[in-house]
Amino acid sequence: MTVLRLEGISKHFGAIHALDDVSLSLKAGEVVGLMGDNGAGKSTLVKIIAGNYRPTHGRIFVDGKETIFHRPVEARESGIEIVYQDLALCDNLTAAVNVFLGRELTRWLGPFRILDYSAMNQTAARLFRELKSETRPRSHVKEMSGGQRQAVAIARTRLSSANIVLMDEPTAAISVRQVAEVLNLVRELKRQGVAVVLISHRMPDVFAVADRIVVLRRGTKVADREASKSSPEEITGLITGAIEAL
Ligand SMILES: Nc1ncnc2c1ncn2[C@@H]1O[C@H](COP(=O)(O)OP(=O)(O)OP(=O)(O)O)[C@@H](O)[C@H]1O
Ligand SMILES: [Mg+2]
Repeated sequence: MTVLRLEGISKHFGAIHALDDVSLSLKAGEVVGLMGDNGAGKSTLVKIIAGNYRPTHGRIFVDGKETIFHRPVEARESGIEIVYQDLALCDNLTAAVNVFLGRELTRWLGPFRILDYSAMNQTAARLFRELKSETRPRSHVKEMSGGQRQAVAIARTRLSSANIVLMDEPTAAISVRQVAEVLNLVRELKRQGVAVVLISHRMPDVFAVADRIVVLRRGTKVADREASKSSPEEITGLITGAIEAL
């Protein structure tokens, strides 16, 4: 089942053509590795899917229905969640509160509406458990490793039961052991039928989890390959331009 289809997406920032005529489709439970050199347009593409940017040209279909997102909240309402390159988490708050940031649970205490920490801790604990992550809801994010921070950001996407999760460089700045944890989170999302777009510069990570690999070069899609029918060497060649497109 195709959950997302992009048709001829272009994005211009003034004179810069960040994306040029990119088409892409995504099925439920499919992991697509999105690769390309610095400035190739990867983040711009996922930001368009997440409603951060409007495309200059092109159409977006969610579950077969043409959609225009004016704001990120509209994409979220369509089941699309994004984990940003620079994980926007609040260091001085707990894991659970970060999971609920912007959609905090509250309860009434007499005439006052107060934050319902116990409900947030319980739900966050369940989400971490479902993701098979050992992150504890009450831990402060400032004391967490990069991998645990990723778990918090990914748990956020489960709150809304999103069926499309976009991840921008989740394994860029973390240790080997934490990379394995994050890749397990991706596999867990896939197992739950979530479609994942994984942006990464790390070839082994992409080949470890991706069903399909899409390569952008200077804003153009130059390859869309089944991972099992490609190789790190071929993908590297496509990224650098040593191998010609399609
Ligand atoms: N808000 C913006 N305003 C102007 N130019 C932008 C903006 N965002 C991105 N660009 C430009 O668009 C191009 C694509 O950028 P993008 O961030 O999508 O690349 P990327 O593939 O994610 O790179 P990286 O691997 O370094 O994260 C670059 O030339 C970049 O400078
Ligand atoms: Mg980027």
